Amino acid sequence: MSMFSVDESKCTKCGICAKVCLFGLIEPGDFGFPQIDEKKEGRCIECGHCVLFCPASANELSFMKAEGLTAAADIEMPSQDAALNLIKTRRSIRRFKKEVLPRDTFDRIFDAVSQAPTAVNRQPVRWIVTETPEKTAEAANLVLCWFREVIFSDPISPAAVLGASLIARAKEGEDAVLRGAPHLAVAVVPKEHKRPEDGVIALTYLELAAHALGVGCCWGGYFLNAARNFAPLREFLGVREDEYVCGAQMMGLPALLPARQYPARRGADISWL
Ligand SMILES: Cc1cc2nc3c(=O)[nH]c(=O)nc-3n(C[C@H](O)[C@H](O)[C@H](O)COP(=O)(O)O)c2cc1C
Repeated sequence: MSMFSVDESKCTKCGICAKVCLFGLIEPGDFGFPQIDEKKEGRCIECGHCVLFCPASANELSFMKAEGLTAAADIEMPSQDAALNLIKTRRSIRRFKKEVLPRDTFDRIFDAVSQAPTAVNRQPVRWIVTETPEKTAEAANLVLCWFREVIFSDPISPAAVLGASLIARAKEGEDAVLRGAPHLAVAVVPKEHKRPEDGVIALTYLELAAHALGVGCCWGGYFLNAARNFAPLREFLGVREDEYVCGAQMMGLPALLPARQYPARRGADISWL
């Protein structure tokens, strides 16, 4: 049985399903109704657009049943300005409350993250999330251990100078690596996927979805260097040999929020052609 089915009583043969199919797999079949040749089904990337864009709600896929879908018109959308303000007011948060985030909050954030685009819809991102402030602090400590190795092996490198300052701040009781965040979300993809940007896009979705729910984030740049280079940290995280670490976000409730917006920025550097 074909993975693509058409309710002939609803289909108007408008051809939109064929127009939105990435690989042009949909063609007119018996009596002009759309169909996918079974020999071509293996090329379907399961994006679902043939179903989502059908104005008559006539199409179904074996993995995307009509009853599970929400009508686009029923989805509440923010005003244009509100949507842009959400994006523009996202700031890196560097002071976090200690309390852990409820699992329901993570579920809502990752539900939004799962709608991020990925190359050929592969959805390759695996997440590693620390559940407790103690686990997050362990990760921060391992980053400092990596910096100690860097200082030992190359004491005059910029990384060693940075590491020395992070270690000094840790001795004063300040976590300048993961900022005392209760959680850390790390995105990894299989190395063979060759599209690490999928993980970076997902991390960006995560940061914006978190902001929408009042959860603060900050990219973990120091952490990322260590996670890519330091075996004990990779082992702690459970990152496999065949996985590439795309990036990480600290997560938690903000202890401090900006009282004013927006910071001065260089305007977009655009070359119009
Ligand atoms: C790839 C990347 C790595 C970053 N690493 C860190 C980091 O390790 N620690 C930190 O406090 N901020 C880090 N940041 C946050 C930047 O400093 C911040 O985005 C920038 O200063 C602009 O501020 P805003 O995010 O509040 O707009 C990182 C940001 C990016 C995109």
